[in-house]
Amino acid sequence: MSTDFKGMDVVSIRDFSREQIEHVLRLAEKMVPIAKGEERSVMLEGRILGTVFYEPSTRTRLSFESAMSRLGGKCLGFGEPKISSVAKGETLADTIRMIDSYCDAIVLRHTQEGAARLAGHFARKPVINAGDGAGQHPTQTMLDLFTIRKEKKKIEGNHVVIVGDLKYGRTVHSLSEALAMFGAELTFVAPPNLQIPKEHLKAIEAMGHKPKISSTLGEALKDADVLYVTRIQKERFPDLAEYQKVAGTYRIDMPMLKDVKSDLIIMHPLPRVGEIAPEVDETPHAKYFEQAFNGVPVRMALLGLVLGGLK
Ligand code: CP
Repeated sequence: MSTDFKGMDVVSIRDFSREQIEHVLRLAEKMVPIAKGEERSVMLEGRILGTVFYEPSTRTRLSFESAMSRLGGKCLGFGEPKISSVAKGETLADTIRMIDSYCDAIVLRHTQEGAARLAGHFARKPVINAGDGAGQHPTQTMLDLFTIRKEKKKIEGNHVVIVGDLKYGRTVHSLSEALAMFGAELTFVAPPNLQIPKEHLKAIEAMGHKPKISSTLGEALKDADVLYVTRIQKERFPDLAEYQKVAGTYRIDMPMLKDVKSDLIIMHPLPRVGEIAPEVDETPHAKYFEQAFNGVPVRMALLGLVLGGLK
């Protein structure tokens, strides 16, 4: 696969080879001083990014906007469909056609799985999936890989324990397949009804991996190099009573970290709603806020690539 991304949609992590992802991660490293405001760039001056969010977001939307601004570009769009003509009944297709005519690339977050792929059919400009229901979150995966590589020097061979809502958690769907592609060892910890969907397990097994499956953290945690914690996705449960049965199942606190490896890193795509005790933030294990910052250089690299500022 080519590393020329100009005009390309970013919909699923499956659309990318390991070589392509490594290319993004290498370029993202070079973007860090610009992302921190220590250096200036006008690489995307005159370019406009449409940010179209049908679901709430803090990190994804604002890090894309920061990335675009740091590269000299501008953003337009909405973070809440109620303030757009979506509230009058405008279809996704028509909304995308319009925004496509006002900007050079579109970042879309939507409630429905498959929405970004569909938007890609209606847009002439590149569409970047910022999360489609319980589907995929490919740019989150790239920043997660960037974080693991930065903290552990490599991805291959690390034992990554992924815990929480693996059924509805879109970050896990893209990340687990990417980690398998990069040669990490995987353990999935979730209540049985929120375990990793078969589709993803099969894709991982097809790459020659045999992930461990468990409903308890205990032993897996002792041997973990990376603990990736996720929120139970309350908004995706068809029945609130089912959510209440599993809410609060896993909470990482200080006693749980007593026997972990000294260089264990803890990640979380955020927002957290009680899965990680605040005291953990002060430990050297906590990397989730750095992880969220890493979204800026990684998204700068991706924007530069799809808009043709980078090769
Ligand atoms: N990680 C993530 O997608 O966060 P937001 O929902 O705040 O964008």
